[in-house]
Amino acid sequence: MSLRQKIVDEIRERGPIPFSRYMELCLYHPELGYYSRSAEQFGKHGDFYTASDIHAVFGRLLARQLDQMWRLMGCPESIEIVELGPGRGLFAQDVLDWSEKKFPAFFAALGYSLVERSPALRERLEHTLERHFRRGKVSLTSLPLEAPQHGMFAPERPVIIFANEFFDALPVEILGPQGELRIAEREGRFVETWVSAPAEQLSFLDRYSVNPQPGERIEIPLMAQRQMAAAAASIERGFLVAIDYGYTRDQQLRGRYGGTLVTYRRHSVGTTPYEAPGEQDITAHVNFTALAAAAEQQGMQVQPLVTSAQFLMGIGGQNQFADAFEDCRRPEERAKVALQLKHLVAPAGTGETFQVLVASKGVEPDKVASLDGLRLRTGGL
Ligand SMILES: C[S@@+](CC[C@H](N)C(=O)[O-])C[C@H]1O[C@@H](n2cnc3c(N)ncnc32)[C@H](O)[C@@H]1O
Repeated sequence: MSLRQKIVDEIRERGPIPFSRYMELCLYHPELGYYSRSAEQFGKHGDFYTASDIHAVFGRLLARQLDQMWRLMGCPESIEIVELGPGRGLFAQDVLDWSEKKFPAFFAALGYSLVERSPALRERLEHTLERHFRRGKVSLTSLPLEAPQHGMFAPERPVIIFANEFFDALPVEILGPQGELRIAEREGRFVETWVSAPAEQLSFLDRYSVNPQPGERIEIPLMAQRQMAAAAASIERGFLVAIDYGYTRDQQLRGRYGGTLVTYRRHSVGTTPYEAPGEQDITAHVNFTALAAAAEQQGMQVQPLVTSAQFLMGIGGQNQFADAFEDCRRPEERAKVALQLKHLVAPAGTGETFQVLVASKGVEPDKVASLDGLRLRTGGL
């Protein structure tokens, strides 16, 4: 039975479903969901690129930053790096390989946990990172990421949680001036209906977002809030780094960022989530004001946001991006890598659309502020 038919059946049984439930089934239905059914979403032959598909320099620069975080915490004997939603594992591979080569003391101390929900991608991770699995460096976990859990990592074993394009892949609710969006069906076709919005969603708007104007839609990322709270609560001492495309409440108030939900299929952007359920990605921009608040409520200090261009330039500028060019033997290779690097850090590439949230717990604030990735910051949250 197709995923469309399964969703139609659920609506017939339960009545119109919240948009978050529709998005959850489209992306994560255990067999037919977009992320569950295969591992072919990423890269040239998939539907979209993420930073690690562009060049290994993304993971290499982050390895440099993770090493610096470890040193700022006094080079603990053992540290846990937890990656949320690692996808097919290219980032983990780049971080591990580069750390082994360039930062051997950090590499010796680290254990790397992958938290991946998709069965197909979990299989792919085991394959991509086979060498590191064999040596016991890497583990695949399914942390209970739904509710805050304190004391998961002992203070003597600090943790750094990393998430790239994780929060944008979590199901959202959608509000319009008419209330909360629900998905109904008519003769097997999905139709939109509206119900009055629950108090939790209205309170989210008041605190972290704006009220939708006529014709406008605002996403309410309650699941992202819960997962951020759970991740932040699990840290006794350490850092959290989240990289994603998104906006702040100030930017919303200045009139941008209503209705950011889009679909990706074969590198084309669409705005119709009801087409081809399970065959296209559905994603919404991240509300960084709300994410930062969720981290702060669990005792984390959140740094002013930086763009990923500022973050990567802050780290890589120190040595003229030697991490990018190390393997280049010929001028053509250097030129190609220079273009890939430009895509990662230039305003016209991903450099200005992606923002980096850095939060810490139990680390002296002046040490956090000295991180290379935060050197070039200009803005605030
Ligand atoms: C857009 S992809 C990003 C993958 C990777 N971080 C990258 O940059 O290429 C989002 C990933 O998050 C995973 N994911 C979504 N919800 C999750 C959850 N609750 N727990 C673990 N992984 C999850 C998806 O399966 C997918 O691999």
